[in-house]
Amino acid sequence: MKSTASAPGKVILFGEHFVVHGTKAILCSIDKRVTVSSEIISDKKIIVKSDLGQISVNSSEPISKIKSSFKPFIFIAKKMMEEFNHNAGISIEINSEIPSGVGLGSSSACCVAAAGSISALFSKLSKEKIVQLSIDAEKTVFERASGADTTISAHGGIIEYDMGEFHPIKSKISFSLVIANSTIIHSTNKVVTKVNEFRKKNNVEFSELCNQESKLIQKAQESIMNNDIVSLGKCMNENQMYLEKIGVSNEKLQTMIAIAERSSFGAKITGAGGGGCIIALVNDSNINETLQNLKREKYECFTTKIGVEGLNTF
Ligand code: MEV
Repeated sequence: MKSTASAPGKVILFGEHFVVHGTKAILCSIDKRVTVSSEIISDKKIIVKSDLGQISVNSSEPISKIKSSFKPFIFIAKKMMEEFNHNAGISIEINSEIPSGVGLGSSSACCVAAAGSISALFSKLSKEKIVQLSIDAEKTVFERASGADTTISAHGGIIEYDMGEFHPIKSKISFSLVIANSTIIHSTNKVVTKVNEFRKKNNVEFSELCNQESKLIQKAQESIMNNDIVSLGKCMNENQMYLEKIGVSNEKLQTMIAIAERSSFGAKITGAGGGGCIIALVNDSNINETLQNLKREKYECFTTKIGVEGLNTF
């Protein structure tokens, strides 16, 4: 028996890092997906294959002994096999269109697609259960994960995420995003740890920034509801300032943002920062100019459809 599932990547419009410390965040899915196929096998093994390599472990291997970056998928397979008393093995194949380590949600999308695909070999789980399984899997390699990335990947669309809860946002604004990749690969775990160190040393400043971020997210929501793209762009610029204050920007990202700001409504880092991608808010009036300005400086950039469908199992 074989089962396949696909899940989209994401961008964070507002609230990365602050969401780990309890503020809300606004996220949307993007038109780049991960597809995971899994199959029951008679060997008592869990096999994971992707462009990044391959691993094969005994089904009975304790999860604590596994050191590979494929640990989340082995965790999901073991969890399902235990729950459904299956004592053979599973083979898992991952194919991704989402560049990894650049803030576009590739690891969360892999966890969501893997949870969707592997669980369907045994039963039809609710989306809520799949999200929880994906969050637990992601936490085997990134303990502080807020759950925002897995939630948007599973549900798709544009959402407001609030400590495990989420609400779809019906955008009245017709907007697009230009995404530019600094090609500096980051480790989300390391950048989140660095922000936590900043928080410990600058407790008062950090909690003030969390308050400001919360107010900003409220304003961003209102801008979306009022169809006000100019105000939404200004909110993005302001969010970028807060991200700079907590130390997740760098010179290359700031140069890219300055170029994007010349023609777009606003621009900021998306995801963990320290590298990765920036996003620029545009519509038909300035999309080409923004793309051209970034391309002229040789930055890798593209636009994608946003708010696409979440987890799809087939
Ligand atoms: C990473 O895409 C977003 C962070 O806020 C971490 C998280 O929410 O788990 C940096």
